[in-house]
Amino acid sequence: MHVRGSAFPLLSMILAGATIAACSSGSTDTGPVSQSTSSLKGGCDEGDHAFGDGDEQNDDGDTDVSDIKKGQNAFLHGIRTGNGRQCATCHVPRDAFMLKPASVERRFNCLPKDKDGNPKVDHDPLFNSIDANDSASDFTNLRKGLVRITLPLPPNVTIDELPGATTISVWRKVPTVRDSQIHHPYQLDGRAATLQIQAQGAVVAHSQATLLDTETLDQIAAFESAQFSNDRSRDIAAALLAGTPAPSPFPTDLTEQETRGQTVFTRKCAGCHGGPTMDQCVRANNEACAVGAPKTPDRQMFQNVLSNLTSTRNANNLPLYTIRCTNAAGVVTIKRGRPDPGRVLISGDCSDISRFEARPLFDVKNHAPYFHDGQAQTLAEVLDTYNNFFFQIPNSPTGQTFGPPMTTAETADVLAFLNRL
Ligand code: HEC
Ligand code: HEC
Repeated sequence: MHVRGSAFPLLSMILAGATIAACSSGSTDTGPVSQSTSSLKGGCDEGDHAFGDGDEQNDDGDTDVSDIKKGQNAFLHGIRTGNGRQCATCHVPRDAFMLKPASVERRFNCLPKDKDGNPKVDHDPLFNSIDANDSASDFTNLRKGLVRITLPLPPNVTIDELPGATTISVWRKVPTVRDSQIHHPYQLDGRAATLQIQAQGAVVAHSQATLLDTETLDQIAAFESAQFSNDRSRDIAAALLAGTPAPSPFPTDLTEQETRGQTVFTRKCAGCHGGPTMDQCVRANNEACAVGAPKTPDRQMFQNVLSNLTSTRNANNLPLYTIRCTNAAGVVTIKRGRPDPGRVLISGDCSDISRFEARPLFDVKNHAPYFHDGQAQTLAEVLDTYNNFFFQIPNSPTGQTFGPPMTTAETADVLAFLNRL
């Protein structure tokens, strides 16, 4: 019933190795979540429906199951106008509702070729130039799992490389929609307050389609809200909805090493990945911020030092910008070499440059690539970034004590623990 994650690594390995010869036409890649042998053999098969016949839906408390089912249909193929993009074109069910580089690669290789050998990109709506093409024509960024997002520049923010521009385009990964019932606000910079607002924006920006009606948006939201990474996140969502105490987000059958990892996690990570949802700030006195309360930028969004680290690493070789932000007192903050201004585009607050929202970590082992720009391919790389952060900021100005970098043994313990989430 609830099996989702376990089949993905095997499938993506098989898919990554799929030969071009196995290709057939028109993959929208909404293949079965519970794998059937035919989808494994296929390579480029359309994979018609993402879910078995009615066997994958969860009755989550008050939500009408038929709404979830209708929302599933809308998510898979409900956008009838526009460029052919569906939500599932990018939030691929068998990719844990993300867009994994390996499956973009497979879809790219599956595109038929014209007589000059160029891929016929209109064959798969994923490759629509609205936000997929980086003018390199080989879809370099899309093949890293990144999609172009265009956002308005606030009046107090300018970009040296884009004189006079009123918007900026940035490349971001496609986050999972799992656990969205307990993780908000939405988008990597937290700019969408509800799933409905988010979906309507996606319909226009990604699918170039006419607006959806309120009922369909509610159904899509109901479907997304019923997708969970595992039973623990599902149980926590149910408890939060019922107003009963939420259970622990951690497994109860941890090994000794994993338990040591949990202790390190609680000390070093829970300040930002705290509370039952693992995306909440926990204040210095250990008081958790209320669920649904506005997230405090200093805790929920990256610390400035951590933002500097993740936003300048640029492992995916994206275009870099010099960001100038002027505050109310006329003081100008300048950050150079940044691919993405992050939260400042929404808030206009100069201390929000390159900040992004913390995420829940349920089943995080299946959510690579990590961070807003997909810069870390593995959890070991993620921990490397954090050790750099702890090296640079052993004590946070907001009172949280992070302490020194983790030792090699502690890092291995946390890694073992993360793999159990
Ligand atoms: C072209 C690919 C693409 C399509 C099509 C698309 N999305 Fe997304 N989606 C993204 C990207 C990229 C982001 C992150 C954008 C950002 O943070 O600025 C995102 C973010 C989201 C989020 C936020 C998740 C979170 O944890 O904050 C949700 C929910 C979501 N999309 C749902 C949808 C729905 C519903 C549809 C269809 C109506 C849809 N998406 C269509 C690429 C896509
Ligand atoms: C100062 C706050 C802060 C601390 C401390 C922190 N994180 Fe994070 N974490 C974040 C934010 C914010 C993001 C999203 C950043 C982005 O998208 O670039 C994030 C993202 C992540 C991700 C990527 C999730 C995904 O789906 O892409 C992982 C994994 C992670 N953190 C694990 C950890 C671990 C393990 C620790 C402790 C060693 C830790 N974090 C400590 C704030 C923090």
